[in-house]
Amino acid sequence: MTYARIAGIGSYLPEKVLSNADLEEMMDTSDEWIRERTGIKRRHIAADDETTASIALNAAQRAMEMAGVTADELDLIVVGTCTPDKVIPAAACIVQRRLGSVGCPAVDINAACSGFIYGLDYANRYLRTGGGKTALVIGAETLSRITNWDDRTTAVLFGDGAGAAVLQASDKPGILATHIHSNGEYEDLLQTRNGVSLGFDASCTPGAYIEMNGNAVFKRAVATFDSMARETVADLDGHLEDIDWFIPHQANMRIITAAAKKLGMPMERVIATVDEHANTSAASIPLAMDLAVREGRIKRGDKILMAAFGAGFTWGSAMLEF
Ligand code: COA
Repeated sequence: MTYARIAGIGSYLPEKVLSNADLEEMMDTSDEWIRERTGIKRRHIAADDETTASIALNAAQRAMEMAGVTADELDLIVVGTCTPDKVIPAAACIVQRRLGSVGCPAVDINAACSGFIYGLDYANRYLRTGGGKTALVIGAETLSRITNWDDRTTAVLFGDGAGAAVLQASDKPGILATHIHSNGEYEDLLQTRNGVSLGFDASCTPGAYIEMNGNAVFKRAVATFDSMARETVADLDGHLEDIDWFIPHQANMRIITAAAKKLGMPMERVIATVDEHANTSAASIPLAMDLAVREGRIKRGDKILMAAFGAGFTWGSAMLEF
């Protein structure tokens, strides 16, 4: 049996840090409100000369270094992002060029915050069915570029960052199951009002920024985390106790805690980085995993359940052995 196994993981955070205290200077908010409602303390913001592709490249290079893989060995590059550098070409193609990889398919997936899980699902199917031996899956976002800094209800929530995983075909267990879903009925709850075909203004009018009904998104997110985690574990005839680590999408500490509680998952087995990174959309799960791996918390052989939820709504989970 062929598995897609994570051979290396990497991440990158822009140097500039925006703390809650910094936001207090910019808008009518407080460190106390942000911490209490979201658990977020600070977020990283891309420098003017950084883009989604450039931070994705940094994360990819770290993952490839850990995996011992060179650019000419890549058979697939997928970037989960809703903030690509340009409409065309895909951020994945820009990363491919800068890595010096030629010829393999390179494509972006816009599944908002579920983009990395969608990418894992794609790469898993690709490697398992003999499409190639090595895939690079990245989640990278520069959400600061579509954040309305005059809207305190959303501006405090988001950050920039990138995470990447190198997957290799292996006879040792890797990804055990993935499930991805979406329901476009919820389009209006979390969106940018304008876009390319709907009308795009390069000066970034408010229509280009993220808008959200926070309460409604919160409720859906908690219920969905619970149902998708159970779906994945049941598919494997397993039990939640078999999982060593739960890595949820890092949107809000209250959503993470509520989801863990519903699942009966003790917080010691939950990887949470939202305090340091805020919501980095598709980047949040690989960023959190990379940190936990490099800190020595997640070890080879550990069973990991990942679950994401985002605009669309999209949602998805992956169960894997590291
Ligand atoms: N600073 C201070 N006050 C703020 C604020 C801020 N940054 N943002 C909102 N408020 C105010 C509101 O204006 C409101 O004031 P009012 O009662 O006088 O009208 C009050 O705080 C409560 O707002 P509410 O929206 O009910 O707060 P909440 O407890 O629902 O928390 C979120 C708001 C956004 C933190 C929460 O709804 C949330 O996390 N939702 C999910 C968001 C998310 O993760 N989305 C991405 C999913 S991928």
